[in-house]
Amino acid sequence: MQNLTLTRPDDWHLHLRDGEALKAVLPHTVHQFARAIIMPNLKPPIRSVADAAAYRERIIAAIPTGKQFESLMTLYLTDNTSPEEIISAKASQFVKAIKYYPAGATTNSDFGVTDIRKCDRVLEMMEQVDIPLLLHGEVTDRDVDVFDREKVFIEKHLIPLKERFSNLRVVLEHITTSDAVQFVLATNKIAATITPQHLLFSRNIIFQGGIRPHFYCLPILKREKHRLALLQAATSGNPKFFLGTDSAPHTRNSKESSCGCAGCYSALHAMELYASAFESANSLDKLEAFASFYGPDFYQLPRNTEQITLTKTTWRIPDEVPFLESGLVPLCAGQEMRWQMA
Ligand code: DOR
Ligand code: ZN
Repeated sequence: MQNLTLTRPDDWHLHLRDGEALKAVLPHTVHQFARAIIMPNLKPPIRSVADAAAYRERIIAAIPTGKQFESLMTLYLTDNTSPEEIISAKASQFVKAIKYYPAGATTNSDFGVTDIRKCDRVLEMMEQVDIPLLLHGEVTDRDVDVFDREKVFIEKHLIPLKERFSNLRVVLEHITTSDAVQFVLATNKIAATITPQHLLFSRNIIFQGGIRPHFYCLPILKREKHRLALLQAATSGNPKFFLGTDSAPHTRNSKESSCGCAGCYSALHAMELYASAFESANSLDKLEAFASFYGPDFYQLPRNTEQITLTKTTWRIPDEVPFLESGLVPLCAGQEMRWQMA
């Protein structure tokens, strides 16, 4: 197969940042995707419908002239989020979900939730108005091994949460383990997004020949058996699994540091990366539904009608793209790709 024509995909988990950073990265996403779920972990985070409306305007202003793109906004859940804010989020039409970060889990999560049980009134309202909860599914206890944080979150928090709120629609974001795959398969009203890096790499890549900070993201890459479980889930044709890049730009300096930030940048070449992963599993025929159908179906939005084409051709991922003061290193920088989006 030399050309692959697909319905235009959407990115169901994206970090765009703000200001100059937003202007630098947004054109990449707009080139690939029609819509994206925009993460609210700015500094300070997007906590109200008013914050989301203003951020959405700044995103719209940064869309390159003549291009179409729809930002689907999210609110950052805190210990102080009110049920009334959920009602206005639902009424706004543009806030599509509420994002849970455990306090201290990752970039700009200082405002996150200290104990999800404190949010029960809000979760009850979310269940009632039917607005999805997006989970950064990791515990942050210092004594839990970093590679076990997703599994422990599922056992300690997610199972009890789904017992309390069985009708709440949940997305377990950027899943990284076979435990997460099993849980999603076995539970009603829960779906999962999967990133390109978790489909393509196991944790070995972080230490190949030295420490490679551009492969460090959270949740961290896991063992090969987990990668294979994710690849199997993504290519299975099950609508519970769909595309979410978690593309998360950080400057080169902040990644290549004695205490480097978590995040992989994939907005530049997301569909090419997913195509390589699906091709490796002989499942290119399953890519369109994963990238373009199951996400809108879960979010109860129409599927896109335009198309995109991926062509089989060899090109080299740039070592760096312009971004703030020290540039941005894309995932797999300098490597050859075998698919290219027109
Ligand atoms: O690797 C990550 N980077 N994981 C997250 O959850 C946040 C993200 C970011 O915002 O940089
Ligand atoms: Zn993320």
